[in-house]
Amino acid sequence: MDLLIKNAKLKEGGAYVDIAVENGVFQAVEQSIAGNGCKEIDAGGNLVVPPFIDPHVHLDAVLSVGDPQFNNTGTLLEGIRIWGERKKTLTKEVIVDNAVEAVKWEVANGVQQIRTHADTTDPTLTTVEALLEVKEAVKDIADVQIVAFPQDGIFTSKDGAPLMEKAMQMGVDVVGGIPHNEFTREDGVADVEFAFELAEKYDALIDIHVDETGDDQSRFVEVMAKLAIETGMGSRVTASHATSMHNFNNDYAFKLIGILKRSNMNVITNPFDNSVLQNRTDGYPRRRGHTRVDELDARGVNVSIGHDSIMDPWYPMGKGSMLQAANLLMHTAHMSGYDQIHRLFEMITDNTAVTMNTADKYGIEKGKPANFSILDTDTVFDALRLNSECLYVVREGRIISEAVPAKRKVIHDGYEHDIDFKLKK
Ligand code: FE2
Repeated sequence: MDLLIKNAKLKEGGAYVDIAVENGVFQAVEQSIAGNGCKEIDAGGNLVVPPFIDPHVHLDAVLSVGDPQFNNTGTLLEGIRIWGERKKTLTKEVIVDNAVEAVKWEVANGVQQIRTHADTTDPTLTTVEALLEVKEAVKDIADVQIVAFPQDGIFTSKDGAPLMEKAMQMGVDVVGGIPHNEFTREDGVADVEFAFELAEKYDALIDIHVDETGDDQSRFVEVMAKLAIETGMGSRVTASHATSMHNFNNDYAFKLIGILKRSNMNVITNPFDNSVLQNRTDGYPRRRGHTRVDELDARGVNVSIGHDSIMDPWYPMGKGSMLQAANLLMHTAHMSGYDQIHRLFEMITDNTAVTMNTADKYGIEKGKPANFSILDTDTVFDALRLNSECLYVVREGRIISEAVPAKRKVIHDGYEHDIDFKLKK
């Protein structure tokens, strides 16, 4: 045994357990394990959870906010225009530096698996090259999957399709797409079909930016679902964003969710970006910009939460916290019911491992890689409410991040009162 965690809770309200780690894997999870002189950490009854996962982020754009300028309208289109400007002068070194820094932010927030998109529409493919370098550089702290992402469309230029194929040859893991950005509905269908063909050719996963618009006529998720069923690729396929689903008429949405369930596909929602980018032209009343999270979840479709942007032209804020993303979604998706709050936690942990196709190596169980975080709380409720600190982040038995929570005192009536924002028990 190399590491022993004492007094852990694996789930809210559960019994205290001890966790033994040896050679980077969980050796035992039992009520009481005697120490052998190895390093011990007292979890103090706090939650010990598997790593958070960010299944959707654009590491090639992170930490670029304000360069060359800030997005003043807050719209997707201005974001794409600013990104286009930035791409002209972007170097591999800048992308790598910013991406590695953002990965560290995510790790400090308990994330150890990341799926990033890499824009393939720049003919130099500098972004792909840079993110492949990042994947290698951070592998001691996080596992990274890279998606070939045609930001400007696959069929909007003659180079779009060959660049996607070249990215796959360079070693990218996942095929992307962006059907709603193609010039026509027909090209959008071809965009999805191309992604499936490329994924079959390179034995890759699929994760398509699909229907990321308020346009209720944008219906490419159904094309993905049909192909996921026909090809049998099912759980290897993910629809990212799917925001137009919010605006579909209810009869069509009901039918579509049934097909999605049958397809076994995954859906990723991105609360930060989708809450500010979509339905921007509505005026009032102003519709929400994200997909139908509660309906999808209630009908058994695997939904997970992505961060999407961290300080870039599309979304200027963020610090790489999946708990913060889940907290925001609780508000914008009307998911403040007690059970729903726990479902949101699943959407940044277990559900996301299914989306990433990494569930077989995920979780706190004997024999699996010893990857986990010790939170500063014993309830999921407070983890989301307080955006709980990760006191320790452990990867294959090594501590890769530590945090010391802030101490606060209020001086009142001549006495100092400690404040931790928790209910007194
Ligand atoms: Fe995205």
